[in-house]
Amino acid sequence: MKTQVAIIGAGPSGLLLAALLHRAGIATVVIEQRSPDRVLSRIRAGVLEQGTLDLLDRAGVGQRAHAQGLVHGGFALGYRNSEHRIDLHALTGGKNVMVYGQTEVTRDLMAARTAAGLTTIYNAQDVALHDFDGATPRVTYRTGNASDGASHELHCDFIAGCDGFHGASRASVPANALRTFEKVYPFGWLGVLADTPPVAHELIYANHERGFALCSMRSATRSRYYIQCAADDKVENWSDAAFWDELRLRLSPEAAQALVTGPSIEKSIAPLRSFVAEPMRFGNLFLAGDAAHIVPPTGAKGLNLAASDVHYLSSGLIEHYADHRAEKSSAGLDAYSDRCLRRVWKAVRFSWWFTTLMHKFPDGGEFAQKVQEAEIGYLLSSQAAATSLAENYVGLPFEV
Ligand code: APR
Ligand code: PHB
Repeated sequence: MKTQVAIIGAGPSGLLLAALLHRAGIATVVIEQRSPDRVLSRIRAGVLEQGTLDLLDRAGVGQRAHAQGLVHGGFALGYRNSEHRIDLHALTGGKNVMVYGQTEVTRDLMAARTAAGLTTIYNAQDVALHDFDGATPRVTYRTGNASDGASHELHCDFIAGCDGFHGASRASVPANALRTFEKVYPFGWLGVLADTPPVAHELIYANHERGFALCSMRSATRSRYYIQCAADDKVENWSDAAFWDELRLRLSPEAAQALVTGPSIEKSIAPLRSFVAEPMRFGNLFLAGDAAHIVPPTGAKGLNLAASDVHYLSSGLIEHYADHRAEKSSAGLDAYSDRCLRRVWKAVRFSWWFTTLMHKFPDGGEFAQKVQEAEIGYLLSSQAAATSLAENYVGLPFEV
C-alpha cells in the first residue's frame, strides 16, 4: 500500500491532521492500535481554546461543538472559603473558551473520516516505523489475531507520529537524537464523571489546605469533578460517597451546599507530569501532540497544544505538496519543530505554574506554602497578574 502521509495514532492529533490534509487533497492512512470504542472510552480534559475551535472549523468538523459546546467567559478560583471570578473575557479583550469534551472532538473527527470514506486501520498490531531518515519511509503492522495475523507494509513520503506518550513513534527515534525534559508531580488527580447538573455555570479551580479540587462539566446535565490525591492512591480506595464528601470539604460553603451528587459513571486516577522531547522532527518523521509532550491537566492545555502542532504540521505539508517544482518547498516543514517547541514550552511553563499555584505539595515546606499564599493574594489583587493568567488560559496566539 502507498500513501502520501502515514499517520500513526487515531487520537485527536492524528485525526485532526488527517482531516486538514484531506481538505487540501493530500492522501493519508491512519494506523491505530486500539479499536474505535477503546479510543472513544478515554475521558480527558474538555476546554477548547479559540485557536483549536478555529482549526476544527477549518477541518470541517466544528458544527457539533458550536451547537452543543458551552462558551465560558470566565472561571472561578476557589480560595479560603470563597470563589473569586477570573473574567477571561474582560481581561483578554473579548476572548472566551469553549467547554466541549475531548472525547466528543474525537467522535466528530472519526465520523467525518468515515463519512468521507477515508482509510483508518484500527486494531493494528506491532506498528513499526522504518527508513524515516531517508526519502522512502515505511510503516509495517499486522492485522487479525496474533497467531495468524496478516502483515502489511505502507509506503509514504512522510510519517506523522501522533501516537501519544506511550506510542511507537518517539520510541523508534535513536536515543542519541533526542533530548527529553521531565518533571513528575508528587500527586495525582482522582476524577469522577456523573450525570448531575454542574455545581456552577463556570469551572471552579480550588486551592484548599486538604488539596486541589476542580469542578468542571460536559453539559448542563453532566459534571466532571477532580480532587488531588496521593500519587500512589487507588480508585478502589474511593467510594462515591467518600469522593463527594472530600470534594465538598474543598469547596466554599456556598458551592458545597449547591453540589448535587449522584452515582459516578466513570472514576479514574491520572498521574501528573510535564514532559518535552526535542526536537519534534527526525528526517521525514514528525512527532505531534502527546507523542512529543505532556502537560499536567491544570489549565487543560494538552489537547490545545496538540492542535497547535497539527496546525504547524498541516501547513508545512500543504505548502510542500502545493509546490509543483521538482525541488518542493520545505520551509514550513523545516521550521516545524522550532515553531512548535516555542509554543509548547510556554504552555509547559503555564501548566507547571498553575499546578504549583493550586496544589498542596506534600513535602513542600512552610516557605513554599507562604510563597503560594502570597502568589494567590497577588493574583486576586492585581489586574496585571490576573491578565497574565487569563491570556495563557484562553491560549497564546499561533505564530504566523
Ligand atoms: N501504534 C498505533 N497507534 C498507537 C500506538 C502504536 N504503537 N500507540 C498508541 N497509539 C494510539 C493510541 O491508542 C491513541 O489512540 O495513538 C493515539 C494517541 O492519542 P492520544 O494519547 O489521545 O494523543 P494525541 O492524539 O496526541 O492527543 C493529545 O491532548 O488532552 C490531551 O493527553 C491528552 O489525548 C490527549 C492529547
Ligand atoms: C475537564 O473538564 O476534564 C477539565 C477541565 C479543565 C481542566 C482539566 C480538566 O483544567
